[in-house]
This record gives sequence, C-alpha cells and structure tokens, in this order.
Amino acid sequence: MNARDEPARGLASGKALAHESAHLHVTGRAHYVDDLPVPADALHLALGQSRVAHGRIRSMDLAPVLAAEGVVATLTARDVPGENNYGAVVHDDPIFADDEVQCVGQPLFAVVATSYQAARHAAVLARVEYDELPAILDIREAVALQSFVLPSVHLARGDVDRALAAAPHTLSGSFSLGGQEHFYLESNVALALPQDDGSMLIHSSTQNATEVQQVVAHALGVPFNEVVVQCRRMGGGFGGKESQPALFAAVAAIAARKTGRAVKLRPDRETDMTMTGKRHDFEVDYRVGFDAHGRILALDLVLASRCGYSADLSGPVNDRAVFHVDNCYFLENLRVVSHRCKTHTVSNTAFRGFGGPQGMMAIEAVIDAIARHRQCDPLDVRRRNFYGKTARNVTHYDMTIEDNIIAELTDELVRSSGYAARRAAVDAANAASPVIKRGLALTPVKFGISFTATHLNQAGALVNVYTDGSVRINHGGLEMGQGLHTKVTQVVADELGVAASAIRICATDTSKVPNTSPTAASSGTDLNAKAAQAAARSIRERMTRFLSARYRLPEEAIRFAAGRVTLGQQSLAFGEAARQAWHARVSLSSTGYYATPKIHYDPKTMKGRPFFYFAYGAAVAEVAVDTLTGETRLLQVDILHDVGRSLNPAIDIGQIEGGFLQGVGWLTCEELWWDDRGALRTRAPSTYKIPTASDWPERACVRLLERAENREDTIFRSKAVGEPPLMLAMSVFHALRDAVAAAAGDAAAMRLMAPATPEAVLYALGACAHARAPAQMSMLAKTPAPTNAPTNAPTNAPTIPQAAT
Ligand code: MTE
Ligand code: MOS
Repeated sequence: MNARDEPARGLASGKALAHESAHLHVTGRAHYVDDLPVPADALHLALGQSRVAHGRIRSMDLAPVLAAEGVVATLTARDVPGENNYGAVVHDDPIFADDEVQCVGQPLFAVVATSYQAARHAAVLARVEYDELPAILDIREAVALQSFVLPSVHLARGDVDRALAAAPHTLSGSFSLGGQEHFYLESNVALALPQDDGSMLIHSSTQNATEVQQVVAHALGVPFNEVVVQCRRMGGGFGGKESQPALFAAVAAIAARKTGRAVKLRPDRETDMTMTGKRHDFEVDYRVGFDAHGRILALDLVLASRCGYSADLSGPVNDRAVFHVDNCYFLENLRVVSHRCKTHTVSNTAFRGFGGPQGMMAIEAVIDAIARHRQCDPLDVRRRNFYGKTARNVTHYDMTIEDNIIAELTDELVRSSGYAARRAAVDAANAASPVIKRGLALTPVKFGISFTATHLNQAGALVNVYTDGSVRINHGGLEMGQGLHTKVTQVVADELGVAASAIRICATDTSKVPNTSPTAASSGTDLNAKAAQAAARSIRERMTRFLSARYRLPEEAIRFAAGRVTLGQQSLAFGEAARQAWHARVSLSSTGYYATPKIHYDPKTMKGRPFFYFAYGAAVAEVAVDTLTGETRLLQVDILHDVGRSLNPAIDIGQIEGGFLQGVGWLTCEELWWDDRGALRTRAPSTYKIPTASDWPERACVRLLERAENREDTIFRSKAVGEPPLMLAMSVFHALRDAVAAAAGDAAAMRLMAPATPEAVLYALGACAHARAPAQMSMLAKTPAPTNAPTNAPTNAPTIPQAAT
C-alpha cells in the first residue's frame, strides 16, 4: 500500500477524544427531537391501539373521540393519501389497521389535538368492536401450523445424516431463548413541519433517514424530493429505530398534510413498548454427533423465531442467525433450517446483533451439552472445535476465514484472566458452600461485518471547508450515542490536517446526502468515515494542486498537519490556504462516496462472501447463584476484544462495556411476558427489568486486543465495534449454567434457558415447578413428536396438529 492510500494517522485518529456531544449529554443541553421548539399552533398526536391479538374490525366509532375537548381531527386508514404501509422490504405493514388487526397494540387510528394530554384522553373514548379470530401466540405452535411470514430457509454442507449415523456419540435437545425490548431512553418521536412549497420537513429519531423519507413520500403520495428528513442525534436506537420510526413519521406527516399545521407524535413509553417490535425470541432443536473429545462431527439444527405479524426485517435477521450458527467453530457436516414464524404479536425487528446473537447462542448451547455429556470443561470443547487457519477454515456459507485470531485471543484471555486458577478456586469454593454456588465460563465471539444485503454497503458524505479554515461535515450515518460523529470528525481532521475542534458535524439530512443506508450492522464508521475521508481528500488534493502552482513547489512538498499547510520552507495557517484557494476560484466543498469491496453472496443459496471481515472477542464471567432464591450476581468479567487499530479507544471501550451489559440484560433479567390473550404485560420499567450501573461487576477488566490491525483496507485499519461485544454476554449465561450444575448437576444446568431470571434458575434447580414451559415437540425432521408433554397453549388458540415436518 502506498502513503496516499494510508496517510499516517494524524493527531486526531486513534486518540481517546471525548464524544462530540458529551458535554451536552451530561449537562442536559443536547437537543433531541422533543426538545426542538414547535410553532405556536402545533398539534399533537396520540394513537388508538387494538385490544385484541387477531380479529376483524366490526365497527369503529370515533364520534366520541372527535367530540372530546381539544380534538381537531381523527385519522384512520382511509385518511392515508398514498400507500397505507410502512413495511420497507415486504409491503405487509399497514400504518393503520384496515379491516384486520393482527396484534394487541397495533395502531387503528390517530387523534390530532391541541395537546398531547388532550389527544391521549380522547383516544380511549373510541368504541371499537371486533370479531375475534384465533391467535397464534407461540413459536412452536406457529411451526406446527406452518404459519410463516416468509418461506423457511435451508442451508446444508456435507452429509449430515451419514455423519450422524457414524458418530460415536449423539445427543439431541432443545433450547429456548427470549426476546428483548430495546428500551432506548428516548422513545420514538417525529415532528412534521409543512413547508410553504407544499413539501414536508420531518424531524425523526431514526437510524434510517432515507427509509423514513421514502415511507412518508409513499404515504403522502408525493415524490421523494418533497420530503426532507433530519436527525441530529437519537437517545439510543439499538436497532429499534431501523424500520419503526417510519410509522411515527408517516402518521405525523399525514396529520400535518390534513391540518396544514406542524404535528408532533411522541408516544409515551407504554405505547412505544406495546406497539413496536423487539428482538426475536427463538426456539432451537438440535441433534449433534461428536467424538470422544467433543469434536463436532455433524449437526442438524432447526431455528424458529417469532417474527410477529409481518415480515419487517425478519428475513435478514434470521439470515444472520443462520450465518452465525458456527460462531467460532468449524462445522463440517451441518444442516440448518430457519423458520420465520408468523405470530399475532408485535412485528419483531433489528436488535444489536441482528439475529447473530441468537444463532450463536444456539451453537453455544450445543457445545455446552456436549461438554456435560463428556464431563469436561466446556472451554476445552470450544477450543477443540475452533476454526483452523489453513485447514478447517471455510464457513458453512463457503466463505474462507482469512483473519482468524480466535485461538490466540482465547489463549491470551485464559492467561490474563487467570482462568485455570480461578476454575480450581470456584470448584473449591463450591465444595465448601452449600447455598451460594459460583460459576465460571469463557465464551468466544466471531461476528461478520457488513450488511448481508450487499447493496446497503455504501455511503456518501459532504464536506465543506469555509474560508476561515473551519469545516462542516454531513454524512449519511446517524448518531445514536455510539460515537459515529466523533470518529468521522477524527478521520476528516487528519485528512485535512486540522484539529478536530475546527470541525462541526451537521444533523443528518436527506437533502444533503441522499439515498443513505441505515446506520446499522455496526458498519456506520466503516462506511461513512471512508466516504467523508474521500470528500475531504478531494478538497485537500484541489488545494494542493492550487498551492503547488501558486508557490511553484512540487505537490510532495505540500503538507497538511496541525492546522497548518507546509509549503517547502514556509507555512500558512490552514484557513489562509483555504482563503487563497477560494480567491483563486477553487471549490472548497466536495462529496465523497464509498462502497465496500470484495463482498458478494447469492441470497438463494446463501453462499458467498457476505462479510468484508470478522470482529473477534472473548469474555470470562464469574457469577454467584443463591440456590434458595434463584438470585444471581455477576462477580467478575474479563474481556479481550478486537477492534483492529482503534480509531478512539475511549469510545470503543464504552461500546464494549455497554454492549456487554446490554447482552447481560437480554440473557439474565429482561423478560418479555405476553398473557394468554397476546397482551404484553411487561410494558414499563416497573415490570421489565433492564440492567443498571449497579449490575456492573465489582471486578471488571475490559481490554482492547493489542497490536491488532484489520488485514482489510478499512478506515485506518480499524474494526467495527457496535454490535459484536453484546455477544460477550454469553459467558455470563454459561457461567450461570456452571453454577447451577455445581448445585444440582448437569441435567439441572441443561434445564436453564434464557433469560436466566431468578424464576428460571429456581426452575432449573428443580426448586420451582414452572418458569418457561419446556419444548413441546421437536421441529427436527424424522423425529417422532412426543405426544404426552403437557401443553401450555393459550385457551383461545387453535389446537396443535401433530408433527410438523
Ligand atoms: N451504542 C449506543 N450508545 N446507542 C445505540 O443505540 N446501537 C448499536 C451500536 N451501539 C447503539 C450503540 C447498534 S444496534 C448498532 S448496529 C451500532 O451501534 C450502529 O452504529 P455504528 O455502525 O456506527 O457502530
Ligand atoms: Mo443494529 S441491530 O444493526 O441497528
């Protein structure tokens, strides 16, 4: 590579600079959409939601709503001027339910009023009558009824049946894995402002400004250029604002179009929780063949996920689950079937890891089962199955892994965490402690970076240099707290040789950088920093050409660094150089564009190279379990994570810690509970428990892998960091299983499902009768379904026919 491709990282990149808005976040001065001033005559919206899981709307009388104080208008499906849909991939997501309702909480109508309180009070006055239909509320029931939002996907390699038949040992089992509420601190929100030319300006809290623009345009029946979407920052998105903000923006825009006034829709937490999709919960069945050392010879796997009533992003989410069922392990003979189940619950969506965590939890459950069968440390079984470097290094989707560092990374973590000594200490402590049992586990992570939808791997940027040398950047990525804008600023600072403090980033705006991809798949920096770098580079190159001619110097003699431009023996302030260039009519504004190279894959066969590279990490967790109450505590975590050459170690460590703890929440305390009529009961922080600062372990050692470098040509050889650390939390779940095994044996440990709530722990220990009901029937082919298992199917559900194959 030459110096032009890889300018030495300057003063900004690689430094632990504070988040560009940290001072605003901590002083409460950062503006979120709800903080923007609204016109004096602005109106507010509330949504009327379905009370039944599945049914036909027999009648909907909104007269009492309209008559209520402060109400200006009501909106139903009939008031949508264009298309009544916000499903971006499959058009199966009505903005307002029309005729059929498919989940409790689905929006039926909206109330436009002079205040949010007035709109909310009026919304409950609607008289809605339904003809109820049977509702499917359970994943296995959906599989049995072949109720799917999309066709099932099959991916196979090798001869699974023969390898299973020949394997010295086989096991089969099931695993259940709960979903997760995003619980972004800022709920969904949209503000629609009609413009004098008839176009619509939307402020939306979104990870996907372009999709919001397109959905609003379709709903209004206008071309895309009549809608402008802006977002300066989100108070968290975590995948929950990839597709769903479009619904809120569309309703606000329809109301603004109808009334000609500014309209804001900011649902309260309960509305947001009952209306929006979550992480997919999964049911997993497996049959595995292995040798005496626990090396996997064949694996037959069925994954079934709750997609809810529509497709949303469930196709790509489940594809990513299929791509990640290997985690770090070579699976020579593998068959995966992935069912995308249609249930009458909210339409599930992206959530940090995007299906990857679920696929990885499936294989980790299999590994754990093998280790318990062989009576050995699960870490040994994990290591025995690791991908090789030159052999056993091709994934089940035909991608050769070129950057495999998992064995070295694991070895280093085993050393630095004192794993062996602590294993002995935990066993000794357990022998002497009858009630409190400790557990220890190390789990690895390999996570593929790129959107699996290849066309999304592109980005654009716009960089403006002003004549005093100050700089404004626009790019297609969205800031949700992850530090994207900070990293992009650092990269542009180094490209122009100016201080990061000389640069400001604008709100993301579809009228400045168009046709953007969502900020997702952890690739925000990989894509947008490269695009912004390209934009800044064109400006620097134009300035260099101009200065070279004006000062009669070869271009090589002109250097941009530390806010100055060196011209042979003399130097100019960057601002003076910019002013001279402008005066000579040289453009100081440029767009930049980037498309990820090398990636391709065939969605039909699912084979190819869907990922540019992999991010790796590993974690050791130590926990304590109170076997009388089921309460658990994370005592210590040691994390070693690979971010390549870090662009900003402070932000990267923050992403690792935050991602890890969010994963711990998913696998331990966060439990979504629907009642037997399909209503979500865990709809507020009082009943839905997310981890807090006090759940952070007393002893934590979080380290970036040293001397790490992305072998691919990413921005300054860094690696994406947004999602992969979430999966480090698998160590906590497996440490809990280890503790349960110490208390009540391996069979008890195998009964522990995720989330490992106190109830689930007590259930596994055999100390309580019911937590989450065990699997009813196998989804594996050619396996006779057990017929005598007690059913917990809700009473209003259809009966389950036998065996689904
Ligand atoms: N970090 C914060 N603070 N808030 C968020 O909402 N979202 C995560 C991750 N880290 C999130 C976060 C998710 S789901 C993704 S895909 C990435 O950030 C997106 O940003 P990036 O691509 O710039 O890493
Ligand atoms: Mo992240 S789930 O890709 O928004």
